[in-house]
Amino acid sequence: MTDVIETLREVTAPAAPAPVFGPPVITLRDVRKSYDRRRTILQGVDLEVCEGERVALIGANGSGKSTLLKSLIGLHPISGGEVTMLGESFASQPTAAQRARMRKMTGFVFQKHCLVRRRTVLSNVVHGMLGEGGSWRAFSQALAPEGWRHAALDALSEVNLAEFAASRADALSGGQQQRVAVARAIIRRPRLLIADEPAASLDPVAGRDVMELFTRLCRDHGITLLFTSHDMAHAREFSDRVVALRRGRIFLDRPSGEVTDRDLEETFDG
Ligand SMILES: Nc1ncnc2c1ncn2[C@@H]1O[C@H](COP(=O)(O)OP(=O)(O)OP(=O)(O)O)[C@@H](O)[C@H]1O
Ligand SMILES: [Mg+2]
Repeated sequence: MTDVIETLREVTAPAAPAPVFGPPVITLRDVRKSYDRRRTILQGVDLEVCEGERVALIGANGSGKSTLLKSLIGLHPISGGEVTMLGESFASQPTAAQRARMRKMTGFVFQKHCLVRRRTVLSNVVHGMLGEGGSWRAFSQALAPEGWRHAALDALSEVNLAEFAASRADALSGGQQQRVAVARAIIRRPRLLIADEPAASLDPVAGRDVMELFTRLCRDHGITLLFTSHDMAHAREFSDRVVALRRGRIFLDRPSGEVTDRDLEETFDG
């Protein structure tokens, strides 16, 4: 009888409410991009990412994922359409002032962590303050303003590496170094994190660690996350929504829990 009641409870239990997200922080309208006349890489992309949302961008090699991320921050001019990011709208490229405002609110993590190997972990994290003023010399651990060093230590605590603050960056494992790169990305308390294959050069355990870290940071600080991945388990598990690019167009845009194996096969099919 108890079993029957339990089963009834399960059947009648309301589904977990869908997460509620804030207003859009990234909007792409009919974004097109070509590097040369021969080929159009992004062929009219429409996309919205809302505050607090974690979006996984997937697609075959060369489908345009990195191009899309770079276009968002104005690293490459777009060839058509419009981008609105963190309240800044631009057609070709953001102005220098717009780019500076956007970068203040955005943290970046890439496949290769790009740490300065001979520098300490703390000094590498302080580098995340670039653009806040101060001389290059100030980015050394010894000369960094007190506030920056505190911010770097806070960020290192967030990624559970505070005890390594004084170690040389190259004394850490690859997974730890990537977590240092995450600390560097969050030192300015960004509203948005953009990560291009953040787990691609890590072993499965370290890769999951980094993805779990993103999830915790997003949950605890309301950060929005847009990341690319070739690991479909990561894409589904560590996002709220999966967006697939296929030959420069959005092929799929669906809550992660609804993405099927067939969707994934079709994404990478030809
Ligand atoms: N700076 C560039 N100049 C010219 N062509 C480029 C440039 N960057 C990328 N491309 C081309 O644009 C296409 C899309 O590249 P992109 O790096 O955006 O793909 P991707 O989806 O990130 O691929 P991957 O999964 O391999 O990282 C590729 O054909 C690439 O050769
Ligand atoms: Mg790429």
